[in-house]
Amino acid sequence: MNQNEAKLAAARAAVDLLPALGTLGLGSGSTAKLFVDEVGARVKAGAAYRGVPTSQGTRLQAEALGIPLLGDAEMWDILLCVDGADEVDAQLNLIKGGGGALTREKIVNDASKKNVIIVDESKLSARLGEKWHVPVEVLLFGHEHAKKRLGELGKVSRRMKGDAPFVTDAGNAIYDVAVGPMDDPRVVDRAMRAIPGIVETGLFLGRADVVVVAAASGVRLLERKG
Ligand code: A5P
Repeated sequence: MNQNEAKLAAARAAVDLLPALGTLGLGSGSTAKLFVDEVGARVKAGAAYRGVPTSQGTRLQAEALGIPLLGDAEMWDILLCVDGADEVDAQLNLIKGGGGALTREKIVNDASKKNVIIVDESKLSARLGEKWHVPVEVLLFGHEHAKKRLGELGKVSRRMKGDAPFVTDAGNAIYDVAVGPMDDPRVVDRAMRAIPGIVETGLFLGRADVVVVAAASGVRLLERKG
């Protein structure tokens, strides 16, 4: 199974965990995109799902598939959110935000009764930070100062899209901070949040209920304890 096949296997396995109907959080990124396609197929076949998209990209995809969406300003009642991740540790803590949608993803995650993360096996790590930097969304006002402060935690680079700085759906910057393997990601998260102008971090700690992992040997479900 190659990585794309593994992503599809994880997305399809998440469909088996869906409620019969109701509001779903729709994640962002290439793995979540495959899941949203599956939801679209079920809506087309008559399933009564509604979605809350975690990015403008997912919104456009869901609209094209005919998935009814709730508005940004509505009160959501999300039964289950399915999203991807960049790195997953043994406690099911995550690094997310490789696509720059981390703030909306965290809001929808927080609003959801249950969160399922879909990944291929390459995303698993003993310690977060072994494979990925931590993406941080930063207000443009004074962002060079925020960058300097983030630089106290690791090497910082501004996320780019081609030759231009990447801009989030909320009009902010993303800085990627190479903090290295973390003994306690909560300490890093707290240090980042203490910097004025930080909107959100890509550390999703204690936020995954189930992680669906697809590997050549098959699909397995990891469940958070406690
Ligand atoms: C988007 O901002 C991210 O959090 C994605 O969910 C994450 O980067 C995983 O993306 P892939 O499924 O494309 O690897």
